[in-house]
Amino acid sequence: MKLNVISVQDFGESLEDIIDSAQRLKKGALKNSDPLKGKTLAMIFEKASTRTRVSFEVAMEQLGGHAIFLGTKDIQLGRGETISDTARVLSRMVDCIMYRASKHDMMLELANSATVPVISALDEIEHPCQAVADLMTIKEQKGKLKGLKLAYVGDGNNVCNSLMLGAAMVGMNFVAACPEGYEPNSRLMRQADKLAKKSGGSVKVIEDPGEAATKADVLYTDTWVSMGMEDETHERERIFKPYQLNSGLLKKGKKDCMVLHCLPAHRGLEITDEVMDGPRSFIFDQSENRLHTEKAILLALIH
Ligand code: CP
Ligand code: NVA
Repeated sequence: MKLNVISVQDFGESLEDIIDSAQRLKKGALKNSDPLKGKTLAMIFEKASTRTRVSFEVAMEQLGGHAIFLGTKDIQLGRGETISDTARVLSRMVDCIMYRASKHDMMLELANSATVPVISALDEIEHPCQAVADLMTIKEQKGKLKGLKLAYVGDGNNVCNSLMLGAAMVGMNFVAACPEGYEPNSRLMRQADKLAKKSGGSVKVIEDPGEAATKADVLYTDTWVSMGMEDETHERERIFKPYQLNSGLLKKGKKDCMVLHCLPAHRGLEITDEVMDGPRSFIFDQSENRLHTEKAILLALIH
């Protein structure tokens, strides 16, 4: 069976199993075996990456397989070869394709043309692998997910969309505080709402960051200027200023409220040094958990 991970929703019922598998891998499961021996992952990057690239490459290596980095400047895709032809060629040689796409449509085209599993490593709509690491980090600290209040403050972007869907799938109470016009994707909000009704969770989008943070178990933020939006930097910094994750906002959360950020962070903008480096921050555990969750995802997709 061919399975793609383009949205968090593609994990379906397996989402919590993948989180649990990542926790076992972190504790040393499969340490002395190479379950992906002889398997190759092609990684196409149309945008920059530190965590995603390194976590997938190290994950493949530690599982006994191999990863090939394909930057668009180096492959024929950057000279006009179609994404569909690229997918067909790679499918003849590798076991899985990971793609960080400039456009969601390109992601869909690659997934439609590939005959091996495709993993989204982010596009402008979602960042599904990030959400798995986020939920793992929360479960690691809190021992559960269901019933927790997860508050996201800032831009309703790709990271927010995937987090919202993932939280809804596992029965969390998700609230996003975003300025008007910067809410999460409306189609995904409707889907998240349906998922939350099934899981016993809830999804809310409001404007007031203070209200979102009140009694939160987890406070999450991401950059105000995602890759490809650099032209809007000045305007966005002005609009998002009241949404900074600082110690005042953190005080509104529960006493043991944890802080997450997918990174890279823009210190002094969406998050202060004090919060990022403070005792409630699990941001670097979250970043390490990318490695463990990529392993669990790869094991679930490549046999
Ligand atoms: N969080 C994340 O995906 O980071 P990179 O852009 O460095 O991969
Ligand atoms: N929202 C950010 C996430 C980076 C990992 C972006 O798309 O640039």
